[in-house]
Amino acid sequence: MIGQLDSSGRLRHLLTLDGLPPTVLSRLLDRAQQLHEDAQGGTALRHVLAGKAVCTLFFEPSTRTRSSFHLAAVRLGADVLNFDASASSTTKGETAIDTFKTIEAMGVTGFVIRHQADGAVAALAEVANAGTTVINAGDGRKAHPTQGLLDMLTLRQAKGNAFEKLKVLIVGDVRHSRVARSDLHALHALGATDIRVCGPRTLLPDDDILEGCSVGQDFDAALQGVDVVMMLRLQRERMQEGLIHSIDDYHRDYGLTVERLRRAAPDAVVLHPGPMNRGVEIDDEVADGPQSLIRLQVANGVAIRMAVLEELLA
Ligand code: CP
Repeated sequence: MIGQLDSSGRLRHLLTLDGLPPTVLSRLLDRAQQLHEDAQGGTALRHVLAGKAVCTLFFEPSTRTRSSFHLAAVRLGADVLNFDASASSTTKGETAIDTFKTIEAMGVTGFVIRHQADGAVAALAEVANAGTTVINAGDGRKAHPTQGLLDMLTLRQAKGNAFEKLKVLIVGDVRHSRVARSDLHALHALGATDIRVCGPRTLLPDDDILEGCSVGQDFDAALQGVDVVMMLRLQRERMQEGLIHSIDDYHRDYGLTVERLRRAAPDAVVLHPGPMNRGVEIDDEVADGPQSLIRLQVANGVAIRMAVLEELLA
């Protein structure tokens, strides 16, 4: 597989947080923190990527990732090309590689790519020209590195830098979640040691991603005293029949309610990458309640994506 660091250790693509040096991870988080105000608006940084072109090449739907990459690129002064697969020549059979090389031939050097297949974004990075950079905006179940980064930035803002002191619980459809994978890689890299993962047996992965975590099926037990609850979306679109009994059963066993959240530490915070299935994995009163950081996650998404685009393209 193609490396994401060049021979001098500089980040050339961002494909995964797996194996990303903690120094690079911390640098991106520090820079995103500095960019927090510029991420909310203004024109002060429009010189940074002036004259460069960024394409958001999405073969799967997105609201948060695509919009925030678009805004991040605009706020750094890049030209932005939004590629809509449903209105493109991919519907006539053009391959992802031909699509990528076609847009690259127009002078685009920054690609933000989402694809439904594991490894598809890395495969496109393999065929990129020397001056082209590829950012993974989510591939299959494998990785969503900028979501992992924005989640860590949100946790740092809420809980400080001492990840080794945090009790973190990740709950739900871990099997299908690229977000959980990127969060786990980032949490380990930043020094978290008490990481609990909880979900129905059928929705837990069977590879080595859960190494170093305590894994269980009892949500109420796993919640005891945790500082952070990271809820995951139930990904019904990726699910074969029979992985859960029913939505009602899932909500009863794994839905985060106000009553259930009382088992966590009193100042525990709640994250969800979105989009949420309200009333399934999370109740309205929690999603919109005082312990929720869900809107802060979204705001941090722009800052993180500015930091990543600047690191790779400036
Ligand atoms: N969290 C996330 O990736 O959301 P979108 O699918 O809306 O981009």
